[in-house]
Amino acid sequence: MTPPSFPLEPIEKSSIDELRSLQLKRLQATLHHAYAHSPVYRAKFDAAGVHPDDCRSLSDLAKFPFTTKLDLRDSYPFGMFAVPREQCARIHASSGTTGKPTVVGYTLKDIDTWATVVARSIRAGGARPGDMVHVSYGYGLFTGGLGAHYGAEKLGLTVVPFGGGQTERQVQLIQDFQSNIIMVTPSYMLAIADEYERQGIDPKSSPLRIGIFGAEPWTNDMRVAIEKRMGIDAVDIYGLSEVMGPGVASECIETKDGPTIWEDHFYPEIIHPETGEPVADGEMGELVFTSLTKEALPIIRYRTRDLTRLLPGTARTMRRMEKITGRSDDMMIIRGVNVFPSQIEELILKRPELAPHYQCVLTREGPMDNLKVVVETRTGMSQDSIEARAAAKLLQHEIKVYIGSSVEIELRTEGGVERSQGKAKRVVDLRGK
Ligand code: DLL
Repeated sequence: MTPPSFPLEPIEKSSIDELRSLQLKRLQATLHHAYAHSPVYRAKFDAAGVHPDDCRSLSDLAKFPFTTKLDLRDSYPFGMFAVPREQCARIHASSGTTGKPTVVGYTLKDIDTWATVVARSIRAGGARPGDMVHVSYGYGLFTGGLGAHYGAEKLGLTVVPFGGGQTERQVQLIQDFQSNIIMVTPSYMLAIADEYERQGIDPKSSPLRIGIFGAEPWTNDMRVAIEKRMGIDAVDIYGLSEVMGPGVASECIETKDGPTIWEDHFYPEIIHPETGEPVADGEMGELVFTSLTKEALPIIRYRTRDLTRLLPGTARTMRRMEKITGRSDDMMIIRGVNVFPSQIEELILKRPELAPHYQCVLTREGPMDNLKVVVETRTGMSQDSIEARAAAKLLQHEIKVYIGSSVEIELRTEGGVERSQGKAKRVVDLRGK
């Protein structure tokens, strides 16, 4: 007997034509709302010589100016909001590497929309009535914890609002409460898996059935490694604070072929990262989002810096995005060769002697940039063993052959690479220090 499942929302099964006409209606309303109520958008549209009335078809969106993180910084903290601050039910913020955080706001209706798309994401990930969700994304200004929390509640599931940290207790409570679903960054999932083993519990014997992982890039090889080790299905959830938080797009368990974009709320475009020109579906470029239903902070053509391409829908009518494996600002340029941490991750995961805990350390000697890959050996294997040294040599060779860069490899034993309890820091840039 198949277990009971949650029904889909009608829009998830609508025709493309129905979806496009809903999008156009919502897009026009959003452009008018932003122009009428946010002086920042009004000034940007006026400077570009466009008016919301100029948007007669979805492709007209390309006439409108982009929004960047800088626009939000320049109007810190609430300058881009399109409702009076008093109408905001909640504020979140993402810390940048430098200076002021990026601040975002939500009306009560926005919070409800957000919960709806996260609930949809958890359902797409394979949740069933009665499931218990252990949330290990951080709570607080970061959108991960509360975003996941409200979505799981809205779906009618039981939520354990653990947050990040205290890895030993995470394991204890997952075991004691018998949670079925975990929502966490993939890198912290690995740290939890290590903790299971440290406590002498086979991670495969955990009550978890599904992991909903996001907030940082992770490869399909990492998916396979986590699924095998934990005995679960792993799906990818994508989002960003400026657009909403987690749940802008999420993967369907039956296909696991890249996150489905919840296009009735977020309109995607792909542009050429240098020229800003839109590119066709299927072509790689920078992902750009326009919100279609947000009240407090409508976001028009927000440049995410995430690199991917749009793919046709499979499990749903809505389009998918290819799993994100890099950000334009994550890209390292080593002697002219573009390198993403995810490419190195794929090669590390091929070596059974190595563990997927790694960092890319950039240094400069004179005019030359050097990349050192610091990676752990698998549990119980000494970094000086013949097998480990051979694996390091092979990894170095494969990076040269497949990526085209000469790198140095530094092996460390278990625990030698800093563990993340949230987003992993994959690139450590020591140049200029
Ligand atoms: O990370 C929201 C989130 C929380 C998403 C929990 C999923 C789960 P920010 O802190 O604003 O928001 O960071 C957004 O993180 O532009 C991507 O570069 C990266 N990112 C988020 N999800 C994924 C993913 C949250 N599934 C930035 N795959 C985004 C790859 C991701 N990168």
